[in-house]
Amino acid sequence: MIAQVWKCSVCGHETIGLFPPETCPECGEPRSVYTSDDALKIPTDEVDGVIDACCKVTYGLYMISSADGERINGQIGNTLFQVTSVPPRVAIAINRQNYTHELIEKSGVFAASILGRDDHKFVRRFGYRSGRDFDKFKGVETRTARNGCPVLAGAVGYLEGEVVPEMTVSAGTHTIFIADLTGGGILAGGDPMTYAHYHEVRSGEKKKAGLKD
Ligand SMILES: Cc1cc2nc3c(=O)[nH]c(=O)nc-3n(C[C@H](O)[C@H](O)[C@H](O)COP(=O)(O)O)c2cc1C
Repeated sequence: MIAQVWKCSVCGHETIGLFPPETCPECGEPRSVYTSDDALKIPTDEVDGVIDACCKVTYGLYMISSADGERINGQIGNTLFQVTSVPPRVAIAINRQNYTHELIEKSGVFAASILGRDDHKFVRRFGYRSGRDFDKFKGVETRTARNGCPVLAGAVGYLEGEVVPEMTVSAGTHTIFIADLTGGGILAGGDPMTYAHYHEVRSGEKKKAGLKD
């Protein structure tokens, strides 16, 4: 049997499985509100293994920001990697629903602040709520990159990028933006946060609070 991608039609929560969950873990609506358009190419009995193996892929964590005239915003992203050295180019995958996506698409520029190992507060601030609802930069010390995008002053370092429009790829829920690097450097230095370290600390915090991982 083949697993499906299930989507809650009320809040948009997505999950993978043979059946949708009994109730949506995000909004509590019953199973009946889930719909599915996508059959996965993974046999059902291998889905858990594939997810576990995906968790072993290593990433860093970044605050990816953009600026479009007066508007600035930023979000957390783990999906940044260097694609070529000559010229220096990186790729980022950004959900089409994010406010940051809207600004990158309009302005064609972004900056990635490389988070340090202990920068969990920035993940909480930039990674779980949209900047459409509140000013994520209020009270946060920043610098402005040459391309106008805000950068966290205490980050390990930063990169600024200019999107190469003909290399922009739609990947379903996300857009992959490939960008020429136009600047960057080391800021506070130190060890970068890894995605694995972030999850280790987070699951420890959840256990302490008696919540499910
Ligand atoms: C650890 C972590 C990694 C994330 N990685 C990505 C990512 O690579 N791409 C993405 O689009 N969203 C990612 N997100 C989700 C966005 O940061 C989140 O949806 C954010 O609230 C979007 O904000 P915005 O609407 O203000 O742009 C990640 C969140 C967390 C906590």
